[in-house]
Amino acid sequence: MAGRLEGKIALITGGARGQGAEEGRLFAAEGATVVLSDVLDAEGEATAAGIDRASYRHLDVRSESEWEALVDAIVAEHGRLDVLVNNAGIDLVRKLDATTLEEFERVVSINLTGTFLGMRTAARAMTKAGSGGSIVNIASVAGLQAVANHGAYSSTKFAVTGLTRTAALEWGRHGIRVNSVHPGLIETPMTADLRAFTDATVRAKAERNIPLGRMGQSADIANMVLFLASDDSSYCTGQAFVVDGGVHP
Ligand SMILES: NC(=O)c1ccc[n+]([C@@H]2O[C@H](COP(=O)([O-])OP(=O)(O)OC[C@H]3O[C@@H](n4cnc5c(N)ncnc54)[C@H](O)[C@@H]3O)[C@@H](O)[C@H]2O)c1
Repeated sequence: MAGRLEGKIALITGGARGQGAEEGRLFAAEGATVVLSDVLDAEGEATAAGIDRASYRHLDVRSESEWEALVDAIVAEHGRLDVLVNNAGIDLVRKLDATTLEEFERVVSINLTGTFLGMRTAARAMTKAGSGGSIVNIASVAGLQAVANHGAYSSTKFAVTGLTRTAALEWGRHGIRVNSVHPGLIETPMTADLRAFTDATVRAKAERNIPLGRMGQSADIANMVLFLASDDSSYCTGQAFVVDGGVHP
């Protein structure tokens, strides 16, 4: 049986580890040719080496020139780009009144500017190729509801939610769908140091507050991203898809 991404060319940012790596594994298993990108080059190379039909390319999502060079290279090699997952991101646990300008701007540059640059570069290539495409932006439940001590992070994820909706309005006529995914608390390297993952008592209490009774895993997010990347979601655009075990109904 053909995979749900058979023949598609997909680029995933922040793909060296965590959710991005899991998306790479699932996409390749569903027939896609996958380009994983990240700033963690050794980890990215190792992750790609473990996946059939995946390769690794360095990409700092803050760099306009690196985005252009990478998308040009993908189009030169494969003829087009069908799917972009803007997954790269960083967290900052800091009260707003303790957040420095430098810290704030670093979170904005990766989570928001990086996503903008990726969307724009991919949409231009997709429009030129004339075959449409799917862009999936990884936001957060913190992009739909305020979370204390995550002001910089949360503001970028709200902004990604807004960018997603605007892009869907502008690019639908080119057959480009743009949706956002909003994970709850997911067990990845980003969250590994949180007490909800290091302390069994805190974890058990946290899980009691999740209607589905367990922490999220990268595979939970990858399954949603696959749906949005594939033609299974061909009539969905400009929407926010929450994957959080039911915490934010
Ligand atoms: N883990 C969670 O609980 C959770 C919840 C909601 C949303 N998210 C979002 O999910 C996405 C993936 O996070 P994850 O949980 O897999 O964390 P992760 O830290 O394992 O993965 C993030 C990846 O982004 C990469 N990255 C950071 N800065 C970069 C840059 N400038 N250019 C390119 N890549 C860069 C990192 O090197 C890393 O490989 C992020 O956007 C994150 O904000 C995570």
